[in-house]
Amino acid sequence: MKKTMISVKNLAYSYTKEPVLTDVNFELKEKESMAIYGSNGSGKSTLLRLILGELKAKENSVYICNEDVTNKKDWSNVGYVPQSTISKNIAFPVTCEEILASSQYRQMGLIKMAGKNHFKKANEVLEHFNLSAYAKIPFKELSGGLQQRVMIARAMVEKPELLILDEPTAGVDEKSNRDFLTILNELKIVDGLAYIIVTHERKLVEDIVELDQAFELKNGRLKHV
Ligand SMILES: Nc1ncnc2c1ncn2[C@@H]1O[C@H](COP(=O)(O)OP(=O)(O)OP(=O)(O)O)[C@@H](O)[C@H]1O
Ligand SMILES: [Mg+2]
Repeated sequence: MKKTMISVKNLAYSYTKEPVLTDVNFELKEKESMAIYGSNGSGKSTLLRLILGELKAKENSVYICNEDVTNKKDWSNVGYVPQSTISKNIAFPVTCEEILASSQYRQMGLIKMAGKNHFKKANEVLEHFNLSAYAKIPFKELSGGLQQRVMIARAMVEKPELLILDEPTAGVDEKSNRDFLTILNELKIVDGLAYIIVTHERKLVEDIVELDQAFELKNGRLKHV
């Protein structure tokens, strides 16, 4: 039987009086994919941040691999590609290999500096994603499409079983968009990754091959499309 990667049951959330999510329900199985589209402000990022435990969901409403996220400690099986406006905030002159090396920090306990092994692993992953040429280049000097690829590589350093992507193609050109879809499909088919992607572009959802589930997020609920 297939393992359940994400299970969301009767999830509701509001920041203020106004509810953002009213009743969200879905399951994502291992090696499967799911896309959600919704207009600006429909609650896509909120939903992902609840799944990631960044926002506090009610107990018993969000599970990752049968573990309630409100108690989850080890997140190494989950990769996250944040909405691109967040990656643009990486303004200080950090290189691509440093970004991938430092994403291993949370494993490092008390030792705060990335060591040789972290850089070795960072460069292996950069190579896997065809990014070796940019290892020593400051992240902020890259094009949007390359930045996006670096952020995907970064999310994959720990070889997670689940990838969560927030609006990853916003502001990238057609070619980068196609490259992105190819990488995403390879991760699913070759590496057996499960993923959930949210976007405001319905077209992107239509362009994803091998998509197992598609929804629209509207009025705080998911609707099959
Ligand atoms: N920290 C916050 N405090 C109060 N309200 C918030 C906060 N973050 C988001 N909201 C509100 O919650 C609603 C959903 O926001 P969210 O960012 O989840 O939408 P989104 O679908 O990701 O939008 P976008 O397409 O612009 O990324 C919006 O009305 C937003 O204004
Ligand atoms: Mg958002």
